[in-house]
Amino acid sequence: MTEVLVTGGCGFIGTNLLRYILENRPDWEVVNLDQLTYAGNLENTDDLAKRYPARYSFVRGDITDAPFIDELIGRRRFDLVMNLAAESHVDRSIHGAGVFIRTNVQGVQVLLDAVLKHGVKRFLQVSTDEVYGSLGASGSFHEGLPLAPNSPYSASKAAADLLVRAYIHTHGLDAVITRCSNNYGPYQFPEKLIPLMVLNAIKGKELPVYGNGRNVRDWIYVEDHCRGIVTVAEKGVSGEAYNLGGGAEKENIEIVRTICRHLNRPETLIRFVKDRPGHDFRYAMDHSKITRDLGWSPRVDFDEGLAETIVWYLANETWWERILSGDYRNYYERMYADR
Ligand code: NAD
Ligand code: TYD
Repeated sequence: MTEVLVTGGCGFIGTNLLRYILENRPDWEVVNLDQLTYAGNLENTDDLAKRYPARYSFVRGDITDAPFIDELIGRRRFDLVMNLAAESHVDRSIHGAGVFIRTNVQGVQVLLDAVLKHGVKRFLQVSTDEVYGSLGASGSFHEGLPLAPNSPYSASKAAADLLVRAYIHTHGLDAVITRCSNNYGPYQFPEKLIPLMVLNAIKGKELPVYGNGRNVRDWIYVEDHCRGIVTVAEKGVSGEAYNLGGGAEKENIEIVRTICRHLNRPETLIRFVKDRPGHDFRYAMDHSKITRDLGWSPRVDFDEGLAETIVWYLANETWWERILSGDYRNYYERMYADR
């Protein structure tokens, strides 16, 4: 058995990663550590606890809580720690950067210290294309570029990448970094572009597009990202960062119009609103390194992936209604009240 700690497993990508691992790596035993912030939904992983009782368990905890992390990692003797726990929303980081520095930077330092002290074989940090900054109309990000983050969120992620680099260099830690572009798919919290627009369109509400809607993101289906994370964990070279991207560059307005078409809603719902301060213009990933060295490339076509994602949101109204009403936040208290 390979003993794995996944942090942030009740968030969007973590939930999909846990599913990917449990279905595709039968000899991996996984502990999901999550603080259950507003973005963490324990209901996402409810079925996993039932389907894989011997290979999956959940622990509630904060990655910045050093004594707790030290005790957990010391006791469980993990082979691999994959860090997905983070504050992940750019707009929130503009309104308050403190918790981003705490979780995304200090939390990584706490994990690195425990991983080092207890001899965990490998640490994988899930990072983002946003650490490279913003592109103009042409070009793409490659791993050799200097980090040039523009938002408090991306600055905190870049700081974490640099800490990982420093622990590798200074302490000889075995660690790898994945940097991925914008994900979409099931279980994404409805504050991000695609789920927010899908739910607003379903409800016939306005669709708030920042600025002129011409900003570009490089979209990847979440399962492709998860397969990439596992590929890097298994085959990546320590000390290296690997870019992952979907090869699907889209203007925001194009995505919103496509969502309107799928849901048979008029484009008159679209409202151009005040732009995000410091809004990065364009992201595009050059993922040739991981394709060449580790054999990974994205598989899901954007149009098909988006159509499937919209179908998922239509079929899972209870899931998102409980988020919109706030009921999902009481789930942990109910589940664990008598334990
Ligand atoms: P998310 O916001 O959906 O989930 C984050 C999870 O981390 C939640 O379950 C939350 O409860 C947990 N968490 C937050 N603070 C914690 C703490 N202090 N201790 C323990 N758990 C804590 O985020 P996501 O979209 O799933 O992103 C996961 C990771 O992938 C993040 O590191 C993010 O930076 C990175 N990433 C995301 C994208 C994207 O498009 N969503 C793209 C590239 C990289
Ligand atoms: P988001 O999903 O927040 O991801 P990120 O900022 O990390 O790329 O936003 C994706 C793009 O969509 C970004 O250019 C901002 C834009 N956007 C809107 O136009 N309206 C919205 O309501 C949101 C949430 C995002």
